[in-house]
Amino acid sequence: MLTIAVLKDTAPGERRIALVPESVKRLTRLGARILIQEGAGAEAGFTREEFEKNGATFIADYDQLLQEGNVFLKAQLVCLTDEETLKMIDPLPKGSAIIGFMNPFKYIHNVEKLAEKGVTSLAMELVPRISRAQRMDALSAMSSAAGYKAVVMAAASLNKFFPLMMTAAGTISPAKVLVIGAGVAGLQAIATAKRLGAKVFAFDTRPVVKEQVESLGASFVSLETTEEAETTGGYATEQSEDFYRHEQAIVAEHLQNTDVVITTAQIFGKRAPLLITEEMVESMRSGSVIVDLAAEAGGNCELTVSGKSVERYGVSIHGETDLPGSLSYHASEMYSRNVTALLQEMIVDGELAIDPEDDVVGGTLLTHAGKIMNKHVRDLLDRDKEEK
Ligand code: NAI
Repeated sequence: MLTIAVLKDTAPGERRIALVPESVKRLTRLGARILIQEGAGAEAGFTREEFEKNGATFIADYDQLLQEGNVFLKAQLVCLTDEETLKMIDPLPKGSAIIGFMNPFKYIHNVEKLAEKGVTSLAMELVPRISRAQRMDALSAMSSAAGYKAVVMAAASLNKFFPLMMTAAGTISPAKVLVIGAGVAGLQAIATAKRLGAKVFAFDTRPVVKEQVESLGASFVSLETTEEAETTGGYATEQSEDFYRHEQAIVAEHLQNTDVVITTAQIFGKRAPLLITEEMVESMRSGSVIVDLAAEAGGNCELTVSGKSVERYGVSIHGETDLPGSLSYHASEMYSRNVTALLQEMIVDGELAIDPEDDVVGGTLLTHAGKIMNKHVRDLLDRDKEEK
């Protein structure tokens, strides 16, 4: 019988749960039995009663959970330490499956271990960004949460109001927000800053997003690139050094007159482009705010410290990397819907049927039947072995 076991997440600051009560109900209807590790979900604000009412059973004994489950769900595979992650992977039964964010290009040895154990693993960050997979696109769901939270954090740090205010003490002009990178997180940041009443400007190397930016009420700043801006998969392409210098000059001009900068520029699988130098931060008005969503990929700002908020030259620079986790209730709800949609694609007659030939399942598969299915991870492991 398909038995889905939801494991408690132990990564630092992780408060999400991989399955919320409404999804328990949906999967139970498809014939699955749902087990939940004692303590999971509490930090996201979901109660044991809600889960049990929808058909889940709580289990305190971890070994029992591993024995009874055949599909395991987590928000993040990676635990507090590498040792703890390996301790979590090691007892997973051969032939079982695990689904979660796995950061597979960084933690290549976890992937190797999963293959050795004969565990099927599906990495939620690898769900292809194609129309059919939209309901399963957890990366977009989490980026959207991060874009929203970035603006809320910036508003809380800024020593100004966001909206235009007509007060008895006179008129207060609105804050100016610059969003760099108008992808999923950037567009949500623009929408949130507009809702709060700020004047919003946005940049992107892909001219196709101009219409989306303007439909949200923001002004699009054209970078006038003649270089190829987009891959066939819709991701931004890496630009030349000359281009980045040209962009830095345009950003520098805008910074003189900006209160908040939200940076989200990323090139898939590469270090984030450096768009704000130390000198540029120094030129900003004291009290301004930068939220660098690309912190984990090296940061778009030279002074960003990944995982931390710092103050430099009077400017608050936020480099937090777990913003979706700080919205644990809704982030869990969104993630749970993504995972459930993926499971629904794979459940046939009440059992999990993995089809590596399927575009979505095949694209998300990391390991299956003792093999590493993702070519990029295989290449990284080969390179790692050559270097040793
Ligand atoms: P995305 O790929 O949808 O958007 C990135 C955008 O940046 C694209 O529109 C791209 O054209 C643009 N871009 C690339 N290079 C640029 C440049 N030089 N100048 C201007 N625009 C440029 O990515 P998504 O999903 O919106 O994520 C954005 C960032 O947020 C990523 O680095 C992601 O890892 C991060 N993120 C951070 C979280 C946190 O808690 N800090 C949580 C979720 C995502």
